[in-house]
Amino acid sequence: MVCESNNKSYLKSQNLKIIGRSTLRGEVKISGAKNSALVLLAASLLTDEKIILDNVPLLTDVEKMSNILKNLGVKLQTKDHQLIIDSTNISIKELPYELVNGLRASFFCIGALLARFGEASIPLPGGCNIGKRPINEHINGLNALGAEIIIEKEIVKAKIKEEKSRLYGANIRLNCPSVGATETLIMAASLAQGRTVIENAAREPEIQDLCQMLNKMGAKIYDAGKEKIIIDGVKKLHGCSHKVIPDRIEAGTFLIAAAATSSSITVSPVIPNHLEAVLNKLEESGSKIIKKGNSISINGKSIKAVDIKTAPFPGFPTDLQAPFMALMTIAKGSSKISETIFENRMNHVELLNQMGGSIIVKNNIAQIIGVKKLRGMTLVGSDLRSSAALIIAALISNRVSRVYGLEHLDRGYENFELKLSHLGVNITREKNIKIKDVSNDRKTDSIKKNLSDINKAA
Ligand code: EPZ
Repeated sequence: MVCESNNKSYLKSQNLKIIGRSTLRGEVKISGAKNSALVLLAASLLTDEKIILDNVPLLTDVEKMSNILKNLGVKLQTKDHQLIIDSTNISIKELPYELVNGLRASFFCIGALLARFGEASIPLPGGCNIGKRPINEHINGLNALGAEIIIEKEIVKAKIKEEKSRLYGANIRLNCPSVGATETLIMAASLAQGRTVIENAAREPEIQDLCQMLNKMGAKIYDAGKEKIIIDGVKKLHGCSHKVIPDRIEAGTFLIAAAATSSSITVSPVIPNHLEAVLNKLEESGSKIIKKGNSISINGKSIKAVDIKTAPFPGFPTDLQAPFMALMTIAKGSSKISETIFENRMNHVELLNQMGGSIIVKNNIAQIIGVKKLRGMTLVGSDLRSSAALIIAALISNRVSRVYGLEHLDRGYENFELKLSHLGVNITREKNIKIKDVSNDRKTDSIKKNLSDINKAA
């Protein structure tokens, strides 16, 4: 169910009603990767020829990104999970704030627009619920490639230095292996004059997918997925067809949900080596994992507590930290979860504790003592992955739970409740109902505020 992204308040009054304790069984189809589709859409601005993208996930973030491209004059045709993108006649104008607000990936257009048209104006992406989300790595790298950048009234204005007609290749060393900055700079360098070397580059599969598509378009990019990427700029890029890779984070979310409910399921399609770190931790905590071609099966058993520390790929992905914490709340023993990528990515802890979890957070490290069970209740997700964590907790718990905050969930999980119900979960999406205030739930002010906001929106 993909809701109109510009109709966000509509989503606020929806919730998922989940009858816990659930057992999952069967096979779930994994959609195309959100964090690949978004950057591939940005990359389509690099050519005036047609790009055909297949396996595009139906998500509100993809819808938002499509609206941004349309605002630039791009023609987009959608046929089921296929997007046909025609950037022949696009006019550069400032992207309206309300279009880009809340979609970090919109900022990744700056590299493509600058490389193709010599200028770009994009509103500052700003922070979000999980952290400040700075852009210094993007700016420093674009400066090195020959761009002049000023930030005026929250708008980032970039243009190629006067005396140059094109960006020019440079040696760039990132201070931190930023996924977005690596993608921005690869796109900018693909049309620059000469060679660019990016050191300490991010190695995520979504970057490899971007480089695969760019090379199909005629780019000359070597060693994508390594920490040193080489790009020999070319004059022009042509159109191509490309299939988005499977979403490793969605696949990991379902595998963790199966482990948490001692279930056996298969996820497919998936690329197993995109999830090595997660599969290792699931096995260490007692689940049996079978990898076969482009599918992974899990046989969830009793869960042992294990420690995780998030890290850039190929380390444990920060996007699966919250779902994995839901699993650890009922593991046998004590575990430690260290979040090293974002400064504020533990928004799910408060509610997991309300459900009966035993978690203490200090300096971005969560100490968890496993408990026997969780209590279903009214829950409000505050960001995309926290929402997924709360749904997993609701699957584990007894009684009924209602999970609000679907405007976050629908950003990154296509038809999440449909896929869970096909796996045997008793889950339904309810609309516009007042929240049944479960009086015996101890609610903190922030939860009460969230709930009252939702009631207002209902
Ligand atoms: C991408 O965000 C993903 N989003 C995120 O997924 C993911 O969590 C993140 O990479 C890390 O894997 C998309 O691809 C659209 P970063 P991005 O730049 O590129 C610091 C989800 O849930 N940093 O790799 O914004 C930054 O503060 C989303 O699907 C700088 O210091 O992440 C952070 O601490 C959430 N300066 C760290 O790097 C910069 O200029 C990693 O951020 C840029 C980043």
